[in-house]
Amino acid sequence: MTEKKILQGFSRLTPLEKLHIAAGNCAHPETTEELLLSFLHPDPQIREILAGISENTISAYPLPYSVAPNFFINGRMYMVPMVVEESSVVAAASSAARFWAVRGGFHAQVHGMVKNGQLHFLYRGDGGKLQEAMPEVEIYLRKFTAVVTAKMEKRGGGIKTIRLKNRTDILPHYYQLHAEFDTSDAMGANFINSCLEEFASGLDQYLGDTPGFHKSDYEPLMAILSNYSDGCLVEASVHCPLRQLDEIVPGMTGLEFARRFVMAVDIASSDVYRAVTHNKGIMNGVDAVVLATGNDFRAIEAGAHAWAARSGQYRSLSRASLDEHDFHFTLTMPMALGSIGGLTRLHPLAAKSMEILGMPGARELMMIAAATGLANNFAALRSLTTTGIQAGHMRMHLSNILMQLKATPEESAVINEYFADKKVSYQAVADKLAGLRNKQ
Ligand code: MEV
Repeated sequence: MTEKKILQGFSRLTPLEKLHIAAGNCAHPETTEELLLSFLHPDPQIREILAGISENTISAYPLPYSVAPNFFINGRMYMVPMVVEESSVVAAASSAARFWAVRGGFHAQVHGMVKNGQLHFLYRGDGGKLQEAMPEVEIYLRKFTAVVTAKMEKRGGGIKTIRLKNRTDILPHYYQLHAEFDTSDAMGANFINSCLEEFASGLDQYLGDTPGFHKSDYEPLMAILSNYSDGCLVEASVHCPLRQLDEIVPGMTGLEFARRFVMAVDIASSDVYRAVTHNKGIMNGVDAVVLATGNDFRAIEAGAHAWAARSGQYRSLSRASLDEHDFHFTLTMPMALGSIGGLTRLHPLAAKSMEILGMPGARELMMIAAATGLANNFAALRSLTTTGIQAGHMRMHLSNILMQLKATPEESAVINEYFADKKVSYQAVADKLAGLRNKQ
């Protein structure tokens, strides 16, 4: 049995001390330390920025930083930065982007920029009376939070609405102040949480100062934004005449392709096993852009899946249809992104991503991320309903295997050609490479 030892005061140790302790868990502590140190950025300033982002940083974890060119969105061409570890995602996005660039491109729009936050509290007094007082409470809370909201209001944002919700159906005496916010180009988590914490104190003060109310009836519980941004939706779509889909695979008409494609999306609208994988394919693109621009992909993921289940059944985030002449494919999802604040400026690569994209505002960034999600969804379904997914995946898999086996460019060229029409497996590639090396 391993001994359980609680490390006291770990966070107060120096980075090198922490590294030393962590490396001690490995079979070869010294080489582990060297390896972890080697991934730290050579520029001390950047090292400091990265260390400041998270607690107990002992190294940096690089992921591929890629770009997908030819994203033609609302009449403008973008090169989209993507950070993702899955080998086929950027290739798929790029291929779909090029495909749609000559078919009118992506059309995108934002439906609302409203973000939500909640003060959860217990109120043991008369809830009806509190409801009646809400117009006055709202004025009071707006005044109370003025110090927090002044700067945001100058940027065109602020608190939009504050409502009292009686949720005693869930828990005895449980109420919420449900507020809607406009956070302009910021994702706004800090702003919203600060406002909500002010609401908690403000409501306490109001109840204490106002005749007929007692602050002892009030017990604040939690003040936190909601990552379910159902008022902050983005839509991206593509459409084209059916004949422009002819010959996606040799011998298949555009109509036949579109018919199979629409069936695939319909299945994902009804079958949860398929819907989750379908939506995962969308998030491949969305998350990669969200991560590359320093936004919070967990927030986007959580919100997207709740939105996908809003009818009570988890469904596809995208929908497809065909009429007599045309094919239509659309993605709608919540997407509370920021183009300022957070990591977007702080992380040197997130800042560069924004520059590569031409410094988009939050709305434009939402549309770019949605178009990328739709592109990945299109690429996945195009493969699945025609050639199958493995052909493309295996090509990328082959290059990973060649890298693991440290194949030279010459060896890789021979092996790529050899496996062009054969099944790829680690063992088959290793055997072929060993054969090549034996011959030399
Ligand atoms: C793999 O990362 C994503 C897919 O599974 C998506 C899908 O099945 O639609 C290919």
